Amino acid sequence: MSGTVKFGVIGCGLMGREFASASMRWLHLLGDIPRPVIVAACDLNEANRRWFSQVPDTKYFYSDYHELLANPEVEAVYCAVPHHLHGQVYTDVIRAGKHLLGEKPFGMDLAACRQILAAMEEHPEVFVRCASEFPFYPAAQQMARWFREGAFGRIIEARFAIKHSSDMDLTKPINWKRQRAANGEYGCMGDLGIHTQHLPFRLGLRPVTVSAQLANLVKTRPDAQGNPVPCETWDNALLLCEGEDGAGDRFPMTFEMKRMAPGCTNSVEYEIDGLKMSAVLHRRPQRRVLYPGRRPGAGLGPAGGGAEDPVPGDHRRDFRVRLIRLPAADVRRLCQRAAGPALRVRVLHPRRGPAGPPAADRRPGVVYGAACRGAGMSDRTRREAPLYVGNEK
Ligand SMILES: NC(=O)c1ccc[n+]([C@@H]2O[C@H](COP(=O)([O-])OP(=O)(O)OC[C@H]3O[C@@H](n4cnc5c(N)ncnc54)[C@H](O)[C@@H]3O)[C@@H](O)[C@H]2O)c1
Repeated sequence: MSGTVKFGVIGCGLMGREFASASMRWLHLLGDIPRPVIVAACDLNEANRRWFSQVPDTKYFYSDYHELLANPEVEAVYCAVPHHLHGQVYTDVIRAGKHLLGEKPFGMDLAACRQILAAMEEHPEVFVRCASEFPFYPAAQQMARWFREGAFGRIIEARFAIKHSSDMDLTKPINWKRQRAANGEYGCMGDLGIHTQHLPFRLGLRPVTVSAQLANLVKTRPDAQGNPVPCETWDNALLLCEGEDGAGDRFPMTFEMKRMAPGCTNSVEYEIDGLKMSAVLHRRPQRRVLYPGRRPGAGLGPAGGGAEDPVPGDHRRDFRVRLIRLPAADVRRLCQRAAGPALRVRVLHPRRGPAGPPAADRRPGVVYGAACRGAGMSDRTRREAPLYVGNEK
């Protein structure tokens, strides 16, 4: 492994600890990527700061982040503090000459965003990035490659969603993410927005018009003593936009950001429908593969069985790209590229019997549906799929 980067963490809450645990799992990465070594931790909350005493390389502990920034051993900072602090803290990090991986959003409002951009312009030698993970999942990278190669053709429609359900628990105590002053006026749109917008914006898809349906469903939540206090932020947002791509073609583009979506746990869905090809990236609500059309509880097999089976291991395998309406040769080529050289892609021949589509619906030589990574096809794909693609090691 080539080298290390010495990090200081500012904000040792949920995401600060997540960053620390990711840094401890570096051996799982296949690429030769410098490993983050967390030498310093800073938090106002003593218990959260103390959590970092279990991280082997952390030897400096601060309650004032200015002291962390003055430490010459710290080369880079991962910063995960409430949104109202981003403008000031990020600016201070950059002006201290430390590289910055800052949590989203980059500023709670336009003024804070401009403040950070000004500091970045003053210090081009400092590497600054906003932490945003979903575009780096393999299926999202594949979708982006296909888009850049023009594989989709003219876009018919694009949809980007992230959905959570933990707020469905109405007894969940209030926290700063449900308060306007600390989270920002925009509520779930600021908190979850980047997870829907990062990929389309990187692909040059821009909203030209926006109309929004916003919902504040839960008006109060209990504080630490159990007393109801105002819960001020938007819980759910659905944005219907007119999108525009780099060629100036326009199409409907939707963004869904929901904290109250029953059954969803960090569920991400990206879908691009084009005249030549469509693809859906879907992160199932749970680590499960669905086998549509099979009876719940019964085992797998030609007779039809288990509707849902847990997927052990790496949750990234839950990400699947589905292709529809493509000639068989294109499906083989695209899936082989997505699967990489280690996996052999096979085009399987027409599914027959009760699980297959009616023979009258099949057109020979045309693949209407394809399930990458082998397992699971949606009802829609199954209906449309006289052929499908699986892969095997
Ligand atoms: N990328 C993602 O998927 C993802 C997920 C969740 C949260 N986030 C982002 O991470 C950031 C933090 O969220 P969180 O869930 O970890 O919140 P959190 O409340 O769990 O942690 C925030 C921490 O910051 C500390 N803090 C507050 N003021 C401070 C200061 N002046 N100096 C030092 N520490 C201070 C708090 O004591 C707390 O420990 C937010 O920007 C949030 O949007 C990103």
